[in-house]
Amino acid sequence: MSDQIRVLIVDDILETRDHLTKLLGFEKDIEVVGAAASGAEALEMAATMLPDVVLMDINMPEMDGIAATELLMARVPSASVVMMSVQGEADYLRRSMLAGAREFLVKPFSSDELTASIRQVYARERDKIGRMVLPVAEARTAARDREPGRVVAVFSPKGGVGRTTIAVNMAVAAASEPGAEVVLVDGSFQFGDVGVLLNLNPKNKSIADLVPELEAGGDPDSLDTFVITHSTGTKVLLAPPSPEMAELVTPAAIRRVLDVLRARSDLVVVDCAAAFSDSTLAVLDTADVILTVLTLEITSIKNMRLFLEVAEQLGYPGDKIELVLNRADSALGIRVADVEHSIGRKVDHTVVSDGRSVVYALNRGVPFFVSNREAQVSQDVLRLAKALLGAPEAAPAEARKPAPKKSLFAWR
Ligand SMILES: Nc1ncnc2c1ncn2[C@@H]1O[C@H](COP(=O)(O)OP(=O)(O)OP(=O)(O)O)[C@@H](O)[C@H]1O
Ligand SMILES: [Mg+2]
Repeated sequence: MSDQIRVLIVDDILETRDHLTKLLGFEKDIEVVGAAASGAEALEMAATMLPDVVLMDINMPEMDGIAATELLMARVPSASVVMMSVQGEADYLRRSMLAGAREFLVKPFSSDELTASIRQVYARERDKIGRMVLPVAEARTAARDREPGRVVAVFSPKGGVGRTTIAVNMAVAAASEPGAEVVLVDGSFQFGDVGVLLNLNPKNKSIADLVPELEAGGDPDSLDTFVITHSTGTKVLLAPPSPEMAELVTPAAIRRVLDVLRARSDLVVVDCAAAFSDSTLAVLDTADVILTVLTLEITSIKNMRLFLEVAEQLGYPGDKIELVLNRADSALGIRVADVEHSIGRKVDHTVVSDGRSVVYALNRGVPFFVSNREAQVSQDVLRLAKALLGAPEAAPAEARKPAPKKSLFAWR
């Protein structure tokens, strides 16, 4: 596989080298290209093997990991170093970072922590190189020439069913597809959680800063100032930092923002609020697909039935709505067939329940698609992402019901 992350292991202890090699051997997207027993050997091997990531032990006789990193950065600048140490002191961390290391792992670490660090460091570096090689003018031409992308609203008439979890991980999964430009918009304008799941600084600019700029007739190219690039390459437009600022985000502004984003990306994923506010309706109206999330709970199913009725009144075409059953394997006494019977529609996508991966990732501010890519729940969101990135023609013809679209607010 040409897109595997090439890793070089550097540790003076044979047992550690073997253990790490075995551990990483289980990861399909990682290839251990070599294992060096000293700093000097690491420099030699790195020069010929050109690894993407070097796992470097800090305590080694003769040349320690910090000195080796310094020399490595000068000789093989394309490699990113993840430092491993039994000491977690700030001084070690600071010296490693000054030497050029990108990450610092304190031993003992779990295999999940190890693989998440490797993937993150690799994604960050790839993103940086991508930004360097694509000159601004070329990027703008590409933006102008591209087909407009799809706007996907992740919605549910009931809260707490996993909209944010699915929106975030699906966007990250889509962004991992080669060449895909993906923007994630936190459409929960009052109480957005997207920044928390991605561990982004709430002091970053948000949609509340962008709206006045666009309303003043600002250049849409200035959009890049308001959209943050996450280490996975996913672009993120955050919700306002405080609930009262949500008022700035008018329905007209939301439509404009989504249209501008659509013009320059393949996929725009919007994590919507559960309430039927003017702003949520503006998102649903603008969206090409409303990914509607439900769980195997009677209240979720009841609200879904109501929402499908409302959607019909709004004149949304049948294929605009796609149902996602989250935690589809939960044994709660209701079967998928019961749900389908009750709402009179097939479930289009399913995502399994995996509390361990989901909560672990949530608490670390790392999407589970990054920290546990092999898990079924990650594979489910990847399948979903791929389906949404695919051409709209891929949808079965009989699912389309051309219906005249009524004015959104006439319904209210
Ligand atoms: N597939 C899953 N497996 C296990 N736990 C999950 C899954 N999806 C979501 N969860 C958990 O369910 C809870 C609610 O998820 P999330 O915050 O994504 O829902 P939401 O619909 O965005 O909620 P809100 O209405 O608060 O915005 C979280 O604790 C999350 O970790
Ligand atoms: Mg949410």
